[in-house]
Formats: sequence, structure tokens, C-alpha cells
Amino acid sequence: MSEVVRLSISLEAPLAAELDRLVDRARYENRSEFVRDLVRRSLVEEEWDRGREILGTITLVYDHHQSGLGDKLTALQHEHHANVLASTHVHLDHHMCAEMIMMRGKPDVLRHLTDGMRSLKGVLHAALAYSSTGKALRKE
Ligand code: NI
Repeated sequence: MSEVVRLSISLEAPLAAELDRLVDRARYENRSEFVRDLVRRSLVEEEWDRGREILGTITLVYDHHQSGLGDKLTALQHEHHANVLASTHVHLDHHMCAEMIMMRGKPDVLRHLTDGMRSLKGVLHAALAYSSTGKALRKE
């Protein structure tokens, strides 16, 4: 565990009130926990901005009755087999499927793969959630 440094910050009263509201709403124990997560979130955004290797999850919603779509989605994942870590398929109802694909790689590669899936006929939603391999978050 690293040494803890105490900081004092200055905020305008309305902004300080918003800080406390956000701390309460997100159910943090205190302001320090909230600020720690804000810093970590910025570090993750910086990893993406600088093109570092990151972790990302694509969530897809698609109509499995669309001809050939399942094969095309599988082919895209095989093309990026080095980036795809795991995937989970859920049958939402008679027509609709959801798939969560966990990936590791450069941000532009993961965005390109997401765009490729989104462009396929029958894919109704494709969202890429950004996360981190954790390297930038563990500076002891
Ligand atoms: Ni399904």
C-alpha cells in the first residue's frame, strides 16, 4: 500500500454541493473514495487517448433470423482472434440475440471491429464499453 497524501481542495459552494450529491448518489463512503475513482477514470480515458493496450467489451443486439449474420459475426471474431478474450451469447426472445465480447488490444483496433459488426445487416445495436488492463491503475 502506497503512502497516503492528504490534499486540500477549493471549490465554489454550488460545485461543492454537487460533489456531495454525487458522492451520495453513487453511494461512496466519503469524498476521498469518489475522487480516487475520478482520477482512475481519467487514467483509463488517457490510456484510450494515447492508444495504449486496453480492455473493451462490445455488446451486440441482433436478429438471428438475418441470413448469414451469425457466420459473419463469427468470421469477424476469428479475424481478430488475438484480441477476443471471451464472448457470451444470450437468446433474448424468439428473434433477438445479445452477445457480449470481451477484448484486449489497441483502441483503434477494437473500434474498427465494433464498427465492422455494427455495419452488418441485422445488427440493431453495437456498443463498445471502455476499460483498462489495469496497468495504469496500479502505480504503487
Ligand atoms: Ni441467440
